[in-house]
Amino acid sequence: MSKKGFIFDLDGVIVDTAKYHFLAWRKLANSIGVDFTEVQNEQLKGVSRVRSLEKILAWGEKSISEEQFAELMRMKNDDYLNYIEKMGQDEILPDVSRVLDCLIEQKQPISLGSASKNARVILEKVALRDKFDAIVDGNDVSNAKPDPEVFLIAAKALDMEANRCIVFEDSVAGVEAANIANMISIGIGDTTILGDADYNFNDFTEISNQFIEELIHKK
Ligand code: BG6
Ligand code: MG
Repeated sequence: MSKKGFIFDLDGVIVDTAKYHFLAWRKLANSIGVDFTEVQNEQLKGVSRVRSLEKILAWGEKSISEEQFAELMRMKNDDYLNYIEKMGQDEILPDVSRVLDCLIEQKQPISLGSASKNARVILEKVALRDKFDAIVDGNDVSNAKPDPEVFLIAAKALDMEANRCIVFEDSVAGVEAANIANMISIGIGDTTILGDADYNFNDFTEISNQFIEELIHKK
């Protein structure tokens, strides 16, 4: 039986949490007098918490102490945790569950490949944890996307060669990471932003079970 490794990003792919990261970062940036636009936000998608704050500080030409840096990270995460506290299954993005179930039915190994240190909590909240054979998240990596580390660890966890893996991503950094890892990249979201992906879809409602089966059997 043919098997591929299917790796899913979390924020903005499985659940609609990208908007909460945006709101929390904007509040944080504005609180230290730094403007924060949606265009800049695209550059933070998929990027670790530390790297995101470094970028915001660079945009605002701010330099701060290590203590202040740690405090700002804590503030952003507290704010974000407030948003996700009440999350439930209704925040799973449309047709994600269908695609996961299709893969499970086809006995395909599935991993999470997320930069977030909150990933496990969120998967529990939306009751999707059991659908994954492996979870690789921000606690398991030392290099932020676009470094391919997170996806390479996920491939290993699935016991699958990198070139047999398929990555679903909503971020520029994540698509780049998948491409560097020599995996098939599937961009979920705006094609004009994710044009480097091998395939593009606006969301999972556009991904048919037939397309999934073609990916499984593709040479
Ligand atoms: C990524 C998000 O999945 O995780 C980023 O796209 C976020 O916006 C990053 O900054 C780190 O998440 P967390 O939950 O560890 O702060
Ligand atoms: Mg994402």
